[in-house]
Amino acid sequence: MKAVLDFCLLFLMLHTPGVLSLSTHVAIIYPQDPVLRMGSNLTASCWVHPDLGVHASSLFWTLNGQQLPSSLYRVLSPTNLSVTLAGLNASRQTSGDNLVCHNHKGHILAGSCLYVGMPPQKPVNLTCWSRNTKDLTCSWAPGGKGETNISTQYRLKYKLRWYGTEKQCEDYTHTQPYSCSITQDLHLFTPYEIWVEASNQLGRATSDVITLDILDVVTTDPPSGVTVSRVGQLEDQLSVRWEAPPALKDFLFQAKYQIRYRLEDSQDWKVMDDVGNQTSCRLAGLRPGTVYFVQVRCNPVGIYGSRKAGIWSEWSHPTAASTPHSVAGNQLSHRRAPDVLRLEVERRLQLHPAQGAEAVLRLGAETRLRLQQHVHEAVRPVASADAEIPQSSQPGSPRG
Ligand SMILES: *[C@@H]1O[C@H](CO)[C@@H](O)[C@H](O)[C@H]1NC(C)=O
Ligand SMILES: *[C@@H]1O[C@H](CO)[C@@H](O)[C@H](O)[C@H]1NC(C)=O
Ligand SMILES: *[C@@H]1O[C@H](CO)[C@@H](O)[C@H](O)[C@H]1NC(C)=O
Ligand SMILES: *[C@@H]1O[C@H](CO)[C@@H](O)[C@H](O)[C@H]1NC(C)=O
Ligand SMILES: *[C@@H]1O[C@H](CO)[C@@H](O)[C@H](O)[C@H]1NC(C)=O
Ligand SMILES: *[C@@H]1O[C@H](CO)[C@@H](O)[C@H](O)[C@H]1NC(C)=O
Repeated sequence: MKAVLDFCLLFLMLHTPGVLSLSTHVAIIYPQDPVLRMGSNLTASCWVHPDLGVHASSLFWTLNGQQLPSSLYRVLSPTNLSVTLAGLNASRQTSGDNLVCHNHKGHILAGSCLYVGMPPQKPVNLTCWSRNTKDLTCSWAPGGKGETNISTQYRLKYKLRWYGTEKQCEDYTHTQPYSCSITQDLHLFTPYEIWVEASNQLGRATSDVITLDILDVVTTDPPSGVTVSRVGQLEDQLSVRWEAPPALKDFLFQAKYQIRYRLEDSQDWKVMDDVGNQTSCRLAGLRPGTVYFVQVRCNPVGIYGSRKAGIWSEWSHPTAASTPHSVAGNQLSHRRAPDVLRLEVERRLQLHPAQGAEAVLRLGAETRLRLQQHVHEAVRPVASADAEIPQSSQPGSPRG
């Protein structure tokens, strides 16, 4: 692809008027670097300098390295050979197709890049959001099948509804394609009109205009510090705690939260959406002795009095915890003062499920905990454990 591009630039230079005068060319293809609609017909001609003493009928053409059949040629004059291509296919790359004129030995005399594609279609699905009111990012999808096969520019434009002048978004560095971030000179309490213009050498198209107030499209970072812990020995419950995203404090937003949780080996999330503006919540009705994954997300509401619901943040990273076993007499749970210790064990097993059959946890120089478990139950609470915990280093015991 790189080679092809360089190739095209080479010919572009040779044939730029003013760089070299016509008389210095050995040959010229006309038209030079045309932009054509898919399916159209093209007749190109290769003119050779009479001083070369080459007859047009001895020349041949290639397109992307493939020789074109002579049935498509016409000798227009002793120094001018044409080729006619009907129903042009779209360019295989946006750097164009190479149409090349060769002498009878195959040497390249001249070249031209063909750019064959379609005008852009109306961009669709324009949506915008503002992270903590600090920016306004919009994304869209190209219209139609999305491929014009020639270089196409997308420009996000906007203006303040009543008195603004038209402006253009400059920051297209956002990680998503077809998106742009406005980061400066943002106005709150004034509606924006926003649209996308797509253009290439075959045409242009404009999306629908959307109107929005930044305060109505605010989203935040996900809640941080999500912890999940047991509620005493209650075997069907877990307690979830989190912290509000810092921006909520900075901007006096209120927030509502959602929690979702699932069983370790299930993809079905159960959503609790009536959490309100608390920063903790209890999950009940869970299975005993089972690992759950929990996530929390945040929606800023009532920002500076806005009546509209905000946009949900991303979900926080999943946090795992297990409910207590219901089996009475479980040895570990009897001796289990250290919740922390137990969670560490689970985490290690979870990260190395293949090694789940056995894991040894070392705590300092003297303490070892050996866990044995069936692989498929690797992240469940252990059914049995051999612990070598010197009296002095057991959690809760005075050291020394
Ligand atoms: C291309 O040429 C074919 C004949 O080879 C003709 O039928 C067709 O109408 C032409 N198409 C265009 C777009 O001019
Ligand atoms: C070669 O023929 C084409 C088609 O008739 C014409 O447009 C072009 O000007 C000719 N080139 C030269 C250098 O005569
Ligand atoms: C367009 O593509 C088809 C299938 O690849 C091929 O048969 C045809 O020759 C191509 N047409 C041109 C003008 O290159
Ligand atoms: C047009 O571009 C798309 C995406 O790059 C490609 O899949 C398709 O094959 C191209 N069309 C042709 C005729 O090469
Ligand atoms: C635009 O959004 C609609 C509805 O969400 C979806 O069905 C469609 O596939 C999207 N179009 C594109 C090109 O992404
Ligand atoms: C939570 O909501 C209640 C009532 O909707 C409200 O009185 C309280 O101030 C809110 N708390 C926070 C921290 O936003």
